[in-house]
Formats: sequence, C-alpha cells, structure tokens
Amino acid sequence: MEKTPSTSRRDFIATTGKITAASALAGVALPYVHGAVDDTVRVALVGCGGRGTGAADNALSVSAAHGPTKLVAMADVFDDKVKGSHNALSKKHGKEKVDVPADRQYVGFDAYKHAIDGLRKGDIAIFTTPPAFRWVFFQYAVQKGVNVFMEKPVTADGFGTKKILEINKEAKRKNLKVAVGLMCRHSRARTAMAERIQNGDIGDIVLMRSYRMHGPVASAHSIPRAMSPEFKDMEEIRWQIRRFHSFIWASGGLFNDFYIHNIDECCWMKGAAMGDPNNSGGDPLKVEETREKFPWPVMAQATGGKHYVKNGQGQPYVDQNFDSYSVEYTYADGTKLMHYGRTIEGCHNEFASYVHGTKGFGVFSQGGHFPAPSALYKGQTPNPKNQIWKFPVSESNPYQDEWDDLLDAVRNDKPYNEADRGALASQVCNMGRMAAHTGQRITWDMALNAEPLAGNLDKLMGFDSKAPVLADANGFYPVPQPGIKKDREY
Ligand SMILES: NC(=O)c1ccc[n+]([C@@H]2O[C@H](COP(=O)([O-])OP(=O)(O)OC[C@H]3O[C@@H](n4cnc5c(N)ncnc54)[C@H](O)[C@@H]3O)[C@@H](O)[C@H]2O)c1
Repeated sequence: MEKTPSTSRRDFIATTGKITAASALAGVALPYVHGAVDDTVRVALVGCGGRGTGAADNALSVSAAHGPTKLVAMADVFDDKVKGSHNALSKKHGKEKVDVPADRQYVGFDAYKHAIDGLRKGDIAIFTTPPAFRWVFFQYAVQKGVNVFMEKPVTADGFGTKKILEINKEAKRKNLKVAVGLMCRHSRARTAMAERIQNGDIGDIVLMRSYRMHGPVASAHSIPRAMSPEFKDMEEIRWQIRRFHSFIWASGGLFNDFYIHNIDECCWMKGAAMGDPNNSGGDPLKVEETREKFPWPVMAQATGGKHYVKNGQGQPYVDQNFDSYSVEYTYADGTKLMHYGRTIEGCHNEFASYVHGTKGFGVFSQGGHFPAPSALYKGQTPNPKNQIWKFPVSESNPYQDEWDDLLDAVRNDKPYNEADRGALASQVCNMGRMAAHTGQRITWDMALNAEPLAGNLDKLMGFDSKAPVLADANGFYPVPQPGIKKDREY
C-alpha cells in the first residue's frame, strides 16, 4: 500500500473505522418505523455535494400527494461532504425527515453499497457523484432491486454508455423506476413546445442551435495539485474526483457536464425519445444498420482549443479541457445541430437553445434552464409581432417537477425509466467532444466503441488506488491534440 500524506491518512483512518462499523450493518434490512403500514419512500444519497444536497432536498420536498419521504443514508468519498450536506438538509427538513445517524453516514469507495443495502424495494437511491461512477452504482442498485435517481451526464465515454444500456435491460425487466436529472425534459413549458413542434407548427426542423458560453465555473480549470494549498496533500485519485470537471475520464470534461442540457433539449425538439425515454427508433448499438430510424445525431465534426493556459496569478492550467468548442452534429436526414461552448471571461455570454423549421422558429431556453421562455414564431427571428405561441403560464421548477413525477410513478406503479435516454444524450456529448479533441469526423459507432477512459471503477478500493490518468513531473495531464492523437482523446 502506498503511503498517504498525514492529513489524508487521518481522514482515511477515520473513514476506515466508519466503514467497518458500516460493514456490520451491510445487508441487514433496517427496521420499518411503522411496520407494514409505513408507506414512507426512503432515500439514500450517494454523492453529497452541491447537486446531491439539492436532489435530496427535492426528494424531501415532494408534494403531500407523493409523500412521505425520508433520507436514511448518505455516502461519499469525503467525510466533510457528508457532514456539510447532512447539516444543511437537517437544518431545512429536521431530524424526522433526515434520519441519518452517524452509523448510516458512509465514506469510501464502497460507501454506495452500504447506503443501498439499507434500502428496501420501492425506495430510491440518488447518484450525484461524477458521472464515471454511474454504471457502477446503477449495477448494484438494479441487482438489489431499488429505484434510482441519477444525475446527468450518465456516462463519460462509450464504454459507460454501453454499460448503462445493458444494465438497464435488467432494470426494465424488474420494473424499477429510473430517473435521470435532465430536468428540462420535465419542464412543462418545453413539453408543451415539443408537442407543438412535433405537430408541425413550425414545419420540418432543419437546424437547431445551442449555446453555453460564460466564464470559468465549477472545477473545469485546475492548476497543478502541488501548487494548491488545499489539495497538495490529498491522494491523487481523490483530488481528481474533487476536481472532476478537469478530468475527462471522471466527467466527460466540461463538455459533457455543462453542455448536455442544451444538446439534449435540442435532440428532444427534433424528436429523440419524444414521449418514450427508451429511445423510440433504431438500435443505438447498430446505428450504421438502422440509421434511417435513429432519432439522435449520427455524426459530429467539431473544432476547439485552449486559448488561455494560465490563470490570473500566472499559474498554469493542467486540466484536460479546451476553453472553447463548436460542434456540428448531423442527423441521418441531414438536419444539423450546431452547439457553441465557451468558458472564457470577457466574451459575449449566452445560454440558450433555438430551433429553426421550414415555417418558423422556436426559443426554448434563454438565460438558463428555468424559467423557460418557450415560444414559437413565424419566420426565423423572435420578432414579437410574429409570435404564434407562448407558454401561457409561469413555469414551475423542473428540478422539483422531476421528483414529483418520479414519486408519482413509484407510488402508482407507472412506467418510468429514463436511463436509456440519459445514456444516449450523454453519448451525443461523448461523440461531439471526441470530434473536437481528435479533430476527426466521429460517427456514433466510432464514439460508442472508443477505448474506455476508465474501465475498472467498480474495482476501486482504497484512496491509494491508481488514478485513471496521471500527471507528468510538473503536474501536467495529457491533453487532446487534434490531428496528432486521432484515435483517442489524449
Ligand atoms: N441537473 C443539473 O442541473 C445539475 C446541476 C449540478 C450538478 N449536476 C450533476 O450532478 C453531479 C454532481 O455535481 P455536483 O456539482 O454536485 O458536484 P460536487 O463535487 O459538489 O458533488 C459530487 C460529490 O460526489 C462525491 N463523490 C465522488 N465520487 C464518489 C464516489 N465514488 N462515491 C461516493 N461519492 C463520491 C464527491 O466527493 C462530492 O461530494 C454531476 O454529474 C453534475 O453534472 C446536475
């Protein structure tokens, strides 16, 4: 076992003790509070960061018709994340709903198993870690027969996409309810607009445009670990997890993490998985053979680059992202989806998605995810005089709506499985990112069958595990070199 620096080792020892205590509980069904009449849907949170805390809050805030719900376990690879999330949720919802004593707070790479082991059929496991771990947790949850809410992106590479599609066959067989955090798909305004577009209100779609352009955010830009007082003594793998937007294996990079919502909602407007989260046409594993029926883009070409290689203090960026991307996606029928992404200060900012048809134009995101300004126009500009439809009422919060929809399905045993759709939307991102990073035209099949970026995440044990990508002596990680590295991204 490699030596870990002292601060981290203390953390790990504390952690190991907790896991040992937890292991004694593993597999033991926790007692029902009210015996057979208890209809509480219990929730376990795996990944107690910003979104995990938000998703648990949504789970505990479902309408009375869909309650009661209760948080019963929390898991993470950082003790401080569990504590911070637990405090925030307890403060808002109280001990009754946040019933997670210390012996149900798990830390470690196998923490997810302990959290899931305490659930029973009908309960829900939330996965809000970096996306690379999704298939690992999903596999275990499906094996255990529990429902799942997993955040977007669902995969960071083709390997992950194939895993999710495969595991989901069993989830469907078991009638598990599986939600994916592409909450815009639950936006009431966008849903009404998608139906109108499918009905032909703006004619045939010929072009979609999406934009996600703003300054650097989240953990997408990283300086060498050794230069960071906060991270210099942290184990390499936990550092990469902490800065997951910087590492393509962990997140699909900023490309997947930031762009997937806009890209997916464009695919939706074009009809992908419209009304059927399980992909209503073609075979995602044999797209070349079934491309005429395939409702997602079949090819991408893209450009991108990193214009700024140092931060304001002159420290080098060592992450694997470009700071600008432009992608042309092509559908089997020739329709184009153009996506523009930029993470640079001082430039024009835009966060929007638009659709152009032969008879009109639609705006369905502008200035963020919510509220959606969903509206349709005659002609090709948003001229108010030419508006032919607008969502008539102010929109409810889609982050909450997606949870009410999930609980409705759980309580009333309605069909509900978004895993295929989430995996395919993630794969559209994998394809576009790969096109930018290699400088090649990338087909669906090429991206799906690309070499795995991190194939063995189910085998990770201690925090001294080898990270999937390693830095050179100066702390720099391998970066994409379009035109030079043509078959893989770095
Ligand atoms: N739907 C949305 O609009 C939306 C918004 C924000 C984030 N997200 C998604 O949610 C996910 C998490 O993002 P975030 O912003 O909350 O990040 P975060 O870093 O705040 O939280 C992630 C948490 O997962 C933990 N973690 C990492 N690997 C783990 C493992 N193997 N086992 C257990 N815990 C592990 C981390 O320690 C961290 O606490 C991402 O996929 C992100 O794209 C979605």
